[in-house]
Amino acid sequence: MKARVRHHVNPLRSQFHARRLATVPLPPGEVEVELGCADARFLFERAPAHPKTTFVGLEIRAALVAQVNREARELGLGNLRAQFAHVNVDLDALFDDERLARVYINFPDPWFKRRHHKRRLMSPELIACLHRKIRPGGELFFQSDVWELALDALATVEEQPERFANIAGPWSFVRDNPFGARSLREVRCEARGLRIWRLRYRRLAD
Ligand SMILES: C[S@@+](CC[C@H](N)C(=O)[O-])C[C@H]1O[C@@H](n2cnc3c(N)ncnc32)[C@H](O)[C@@H]1O
Repeated sequence: MKARVRHHVNPLRSQFHARRLATVPLPPGEVEVELGCADARFLFERAPAHPKTTFVGLEIRAALVAQVNREARELGLGNLRAQFAHVNVDLDALFDDERLARVYINFPDPWFKRRHHKRRLMSPELIACLHRKIRPGGELFFQSDVWELALDALATVEEQPERFANIAGPWSFVRDNPFGARSLREVRCEARGLRIWRLRYRRLAD
């Protein structure tokens, strides 16, 4: 039975800023992380095809974290787990530096109203943190059907050219998702024929 899940959590609520999470225990080998994984459909598609890689979904809605971990157990997917986290507050504490091979940001919440823009996931601070957490040569992938959000993500990463190189060339989008897995939002956008804006970056050495 699916848990009841809130539609949105306000990431500015003070409860998220008053605690520090422990590092996620990880086996040796590659680690891939999705920020804001929701039901983790994307990771559920990737994990069986890459059994030696560990997949971690970070999610601020606790009921979804429990649901993902229950489904992973039922499917016997020992290399997939969800972790409750506020990405903008907790990411630094959750992983050792240069531990991650890939990070995915699939369809982050748009928070359309101007006064809510500060709730958005993407920020210069997040990019600086991702640069610390992704290993040199590792990847950062972003996708969204919201043009304004994608353009903002593009500018936010490209304004730190010493940290990430755009695989498609500076200030460019990639057409396809090359990872053989699709998120729920991605499937729904494709079913409606919506255009999806995708960005793919390589983490540069210091
Ligand atoms: C629009 S949904 C997309 C879910 C999934 N990635 C997909 O593509 O189908 C965005 C998800 O990010 C989560 N989220 C938003 N802000 C977050 C934050 N600061 N930290 C962790 N998760 C967050 C939301 O709860 C939501 O589940």
